[in-house]
Amino acid sequence: MQNKLIFKKIPIDGYNEGMKIVGCDKEWLNAKIVSSNISNEEMLKILKSYGVKEILVEYISETVALISKEDEISEKSLSNLFLSDLEFVKNIYPVLLSELKEIFQSVKSQRFDPEKVDVITEKINSSSVKNSGFIVNITKYSQNEEYLYNHSINVALLSNISAKNLGYNEKVTLEMTKGGLLHDIGKLFIDTDIVNKKGKLNEHEFAEVKKHPILGYKFLSEYKCESEIVLRIVLEHHERYNGKGYPRRLSGNNISPYAKIASILDAYDALTNDTTYREAMSQEEAIEIIKQSAGAEFSKNVSDILLNFIKNNTLGKVVRLDSDEVGIIVKEGINKKQPLVLIVKDSEGKFVKPYIYDLNSYNAMTGMPYKQIISFYTKKEIDFNPVQILLDNISLLNN
Ligand SMILES: [Fe+2]
Repeated sequence: MQNKLIFKKIPIDGYNEGMKIVGCDKEWLNAKIVSSNISNEEMLKILKSYGVKEILVEYISETVALISKEDEISEKSLSNLFLSDLEFVKNIYPVLLSELKEIFQSVKSQRFDPEKVDVITEKINSSSVKNSGFIVNITKYSQNEEYLYNHSINVALLSNISAKNLGYNEKVTLEMTKGGLLHDIGKLFIDTDIVNKKGKLNEHEFAEVKKHPILGYKFLSEYKCESEIVLRIVLEHHERYNGKGYPRRLSGNNISPYAKIASILDAYDALTNDTTYREAMSQEEAIEIIKQSAGAEFSKNVSDILLNFIKNNTLGKVVRLDSDEVGIIVKEGINKKQPLVLIVKDSEGKFVKPYIYDLNSYNAMTGMPYKQIISFYTKKEIDFNPVQILLDNISLLNN
């Protein structure tokens, strides 16, 4: 059994023997509490007379030891999960990209092998990836491929994990994943100068781009794609709940539920990536934009579920702390705001030998964390490759 010292804020009436009072909700009393020699019972009376409602206590108990044991188990499974995902980023993600690139290049010359798409779909579905949010987060920092390939793989990964989280069966999960891979396939039939144009599209160019759902749908139908889920994701992922989308201006429940899911994942990944016409936004900005549009552009129920899921996937994100240090989130804490981070830069912006810091460390006197996250970085704001840093420090992550 392992003893662990815990600091916890509790209501003043929740005090138990064995706890040591180290602070309270009236800050001006804290110095008195620490310097006093009186018993805890006498201290409680004094604090109550001052109207104190909450106290900060320090304690070690058998229960705590049991909690520590559970923590140990979850810590172990989390770090294993993390490492297998890191291996996926290193070894499998680049292969998926080149396989998809090969498929898309042959599509341009009207050749298409649906079985090759099945292979990628199966690889995504059966890989040991448990946290595709992590993969999507981390690969955003090192995407050098043409946008369409990364974006298609990302939407497929997010679709796969969303389908699993929403409780869809294996068949539907596979088809949603495939829909994610192929949702923008119609762009391959549009003038590449328009698709890759930097800056805003003019009216004619936008009208051309808007053809891609129909072009993709027609192409796959000709190749005898029989999955209604895939076909409707391809055709309807730009339809909007309020009927202001394209190509058919469908609204509400006339849009396939699978296309509704794909449309949110598509929008999220597009907003958080550098595209030809806009620089990447942070996860928070993207979530805010989708939230504001929820109910009008996106189905509110679906977006609530998916945005929560995306928001809770913070592993791999590069963050700035209030100390001005820069770190990468390597393990989610019990409280999502206080994860473990791998510190890579000091407060002066200089690279340091990376080390793990637990943001769940509190100042016993104030009950406040020593350090907190104040912002998330986008790709353009960082000058290092987080994937490489994580890979170089696997031994630290494994401890
Ligand atoms: Fe699209």
